Amino acid sequence: MTLGILAAIHDEVDGLVAAMRHDDSRATVRTIGMRDYYAGHLYGQPCVLVLARMGKVAASATTVTLIRELGATQIVFTGLAGGIGPNTQVGDIVIADRTLQHDLDARPFFGRHEVPLLERAEFPADAALTAELHAAAAEFLRHDLAVDVPRAVREKFGVAAPTLHQGMIASGDQFIGSPTAVAELRERLPGLLAVEMEGAAVAQVCHEYGVPYAVMRTISDRADDTAHVDFSAFLTEVASHYSSGVLRRLLAARA
Ligand code: ADE
Repeated sequence: MTLGILAAIHDEVDGLVAAMRHDDSRATVRTIGMRDYYAGHLYGQPCVLVLARMGKVAASATTVTLIRELGATQIVFTGLAGGIGPNTQVGDIVIADRTLQHDLDARPFFGRHEVPLLERAEFPADAALTAELHAAAAEFLRHDLAVDVPRAVREKFGVAAPTLHQGMIASGDQFIGSPTAVAELRERLPGLLAVEMEGAAVAQVCHEYGVPYAVMRTISDRADDTAHVDFSAFLTEVASHYSSGVLRRLLAARA
């Protein structure tokens, strides 16, 4: 079993790459299609880490390479998302039970959001991998967050008492940053918890290759006109700790 771990932004993989280099002196790096794939053991488990970059095309290309060239047999995507659900607050964690491409519209040939020739719009996340991720995220919030992210930093970003959610995540090649866009998405996709730019693309590729996938997202903004937060500071000071901490819990639980 080799777990492929993707993220869209540098800070989210850098901590994990450093941990792999520390844990496994025989870890290797291969560059394929402008991506560096770090293969080795992380907290004792075989993993491949890669910076996928942002957007659905980037995520799809990277996922194919992870599966075909690096032998990943499970995939987890970790990153940021805009909160759409009424209770998804900055600093919360959302884990996908399913994903969908909110910007896919091949009507009149296919239904709204339907992926042509796959006869589906939604891709369920793998139940077992998602349960592992959920348990790891709960442990992280309960035990590690207060240690890993100092109180002053949490207060600076308005992270109060973060909670864990599980439900629909939608992906599209656009940053959502207006109340109108949020209202439209809520109406079109009841039950939607968060928006990002990669998860459903990973899901489609994983479906096509029969590889289990799961997605974890830290809410960085509310996808409205307050959404343009200082992402690089939030990533460095908050979200990178979430990614590293949750995956550390997930892999340690496998030992
Ligand atoms: N990732 C983080 N916040 C986002 C937003 N508001 N829209 C799309 N992707 C995001």
